[in-house]
Amino acid sequence: MAERGYDTVLRADQARIHSDSLEMPHPILTAETLSVVYNSSRGPQKAVDNLSLAIGDGEFVSILGPSGCGKSTFLNVAAGLLQPSGGRAALSGQTISGPRPDIGVVFQRPTLLPWATVEQNVLIPIRALRRPIQQYRSRAHELLEMVGLKDHAGHYPEELSGGMQQRVGIVRALIHDPSLLLMDEPFAALDAMTRERMSLELQDIWNASQKTVLFITHSIPEAVFLSDRVLIMSPSPGRIREEIVIDLPRPRDAELMGSSKYAEICGRIRKIFSQFPEKAQ
Ligand SMILES: Nc1ncnc2c1ncn2[C@@H]1O[C@H](COP(=O)(O)OP(=O)(O)O)[C@@H](O)[C@H]1O
Ligand SMILES: [Mg+2]
Repeated sequence: MAERGYDTVLRADQARIHSDSLEMPHPILTAETLSVVYNSSRGPQKAVDNLSLAIGDGEFVSILGPSGCGKSTFLNVAAGLLQPSGGRAALSGQTISGPRPDIGVVFQRPTLLPWATVEQNVLIPIRALRRPIQQYRSRAHELLEMVGLKDHAGHYPEELSGGMQQRVGIVRALIHDPSLLLMDEPFAALDAMTRERMSLELQDIWNASQKTVLFITHSIPEAVFLSDRVLIMSPSPGRIREEIVIDLPRPRDAELMGSSKYAEICGRIRKIFSQFPEKAQ
């Protein structure tokens, strides 16, 4: 895969920008001086502060930050599920003001309907968008095959393991062919082994589907393994503090996780986190 990157990110955030020799892919998702203030019982709470970023077409970018720093809040704005208090998020220059079919979202828990089969769960967005179900059935099966669930289309969620259910959630987010996939700690509820396997699978899915992915996590190794770039958020109120370009070759395999270069990048990020009052895992 060609080297990607660009230098427009993070203008408003005093972040260090690693922009050497970078050409600029067409940005898909942008956030401009975004802020979110919640009105809570303790008064106004600023969850996201002056956050700016740009994610290029086809990039895999992770946002890494300690718990409570505003990652999900930002993702909800990008998904059109939450209105920002200031600034804006835009998809190809168009302000995101509500949920839209060109954005797919995967949450921490797949929230599948227990009474519906895997195939029926996967086709929920098609029903919601009032598109012809029949035309998407074969796509559903292709995607299920891609994630190793070809023989599970007729199964019910309770018959699947946690990892399998999360894969169904990913397929459901891809079924209507969105250009951008937003993933909010999708593997957080899985055991360590499954989580590692899911990282490998997600890389394959990303390769095969050519989507732009914004992946939110608080796992440093996961972010480094998967990403072209890692954006580090500071503790609450969240803003982007640093950008790290991950120049590890692709495709990446499990062996890479034992390499010194991988360890060096993880260590560099860990050091940044150690300077925060709250630490990432
Ligand atoms: N609906 C809400 N009302 C009030 N405060 C909220 C709400 N949602 C989140 N927060 C607060 O905003 C901050 C950021 O939350 P969140 O975006 O969920 O963080 P993260 O995903 O990084 O763990 C936290 O302090 C959290 O308590
Ligand atoms: Mg969260």
